[in-house]
Amino acid sequence: VNVNAYSSSSTAGIANPRLPSYAGFGCSSVWARPDFDGSVAQALLDTAYAGGIRMLDTGPSYGLGTGETRLGHWLQHHGGHDIVISTKAGTNLGDANSIYRSFRPEDLEKSLTGSLKRLGRERVDILYLHGPQPDDLNDEVLRHFEREKQRGRISWSGVNSFDPVMLSRCADFPVDVVMLQYNIVDRSAEKIIPALKKAGKLVLSATALGQAIYQKSTFGLSKYGLWYLLRALKNDPSFPIKGYRLHKEAARRGKTGIALALEFVSSNKEIDGIFFGTSRQEHMAENLLLLKGLQGHP
Ligand SMILES: NC(=O)c1ccc[n+]([C@@H]2O[C@H](COP(=O)([O-])OP(=O)(O)OC[C@H]3O[C@@H](n4cnc5c(N)ncnc54)[C@H](OP(=O)(O)O)[C@@H]3O)[C@@H](O)[C@H]2O)c1
Repeated sequence: VNVNAYSSSSTAGIANPRLPSYAGFGCSSVWARPDFDGSVAQALLDTAYAGGIRMLDTGPSYGLGTGETRLGHWLQHHGGHDIVISTKAGTNLGDANSIYRSFRPEDLEKSLTGSLKRLGRERVDILYLHGPQPDDLNDEVLRHFEREKQRGRISWSGVNSFDPVMLSRCADFPVDVVMLQYNIVDRSAEKIIPALKKAGKLVLSATALGQAIYQKSTFGLSKYGLWYLLRALKNDPSFPIKGYRLHKEAARRGKTGIALALEFVSSNKEIDGIFFGTSRQEHMAENLLLLKGLQGHP
C-alpha cells in the first residue's frame, strides 16, 4: 500500500486515515524470542497474511532484534508492499546486543538505520517513539521525524505509550499516529481517545486481547506459559482477579474471553486499528475467524 499518498507532510496528523486492514499482527513477545521456532514464526505470518492481515508491527527491542530480522526474512519472500509496517525507536539495540533508552536524534537515527537493515527495507510506514517520557516529546524529536520523512525512510511518525499522562500530551504533539493500550482489561486510555482523534491522529490499539489474562491456556505448562505469567504479574499483580472475573463473564455469555475482547475493542469506532499477538496457529486461526465476524474485519 502506498501510505505516502495519505501521509501528512508536516507531522500534523492524518485527516482521512485509510488502513489496508483493521487488524494487525504484533511481531513481538514470544513470537520474537530467539528460542521460539523460526519456521513456526514464518508460518504464523503466512496464515495472518492469508487471513487478510495487512499491518505488521515490530521493534528493535523485541527479541533483541530477532523480531525485526524474522519479519525481514518473511518480507523478503512475500514482498509485503501492500502491508503497513511499523517499528519503533527509543528502546534502541546497542552494540553489545543490549537495549538502551535514548530519544536523542542521533540515537533515533542510528536505531532506524539498524531496523531498516534487519527488515531489509529502505522505508517503514510508521516509526514510533517507544515509551517516551514527557521530556522526550520535544522539537528536536519532531525535526528528526521531519528529516526522516524527507529522506523517505518513514511515512508516518508516531508515539507508542500505555501511560495515560503521556497519551494526553500526545494530543498536542504533532505526530501522525498514536499506539496505545485500550482493551477489555485496561480502559485507562478511554477518555483520551476523543482528543487524539480530534487532533487528527490515527489511533491504534496494541494488546487488543488484553494479553489473554482471562484465558487458562495463556499460562499453561510450557516455558512460554511461565513467560506470559511473569509478564502478567509484572504488568499488574492483581491480574488473576481481573482475569477470573472476565473468564466468568465470558462463560456467562456463552463466549470465549477472546471473542469478548475483540467485540469490546471493535465497538469503539474511534479506534482505527488493532494489534494482537500469538505464538500458536490454532489461536491465529481462531482470531482471524472472529475478526471476519466483526463487520467485515479484517
Ligand atoms: N505488550 C506490550 O507492552 C506492547 C507494547 C507496544 C506494542 N505492542 C503491540 O501489541 C501487540 C500485541 O500485544 P501482546 O501480544 O502483548 O498482547 P495481546 O495480543 O493482547 O495478547 C497476546 C496473548 O493472547 C494469547 N492469545 C492470542 N490469541 C488467542 C486465542 N485465540 N486464544 C487464547 N489465547 C490467545 C497469546 O497466547 P498464545 O501465544 O498462546 O496464543 C498471548 O498470551 C504486540 O505484538 C505489539 O505489536 C505491545
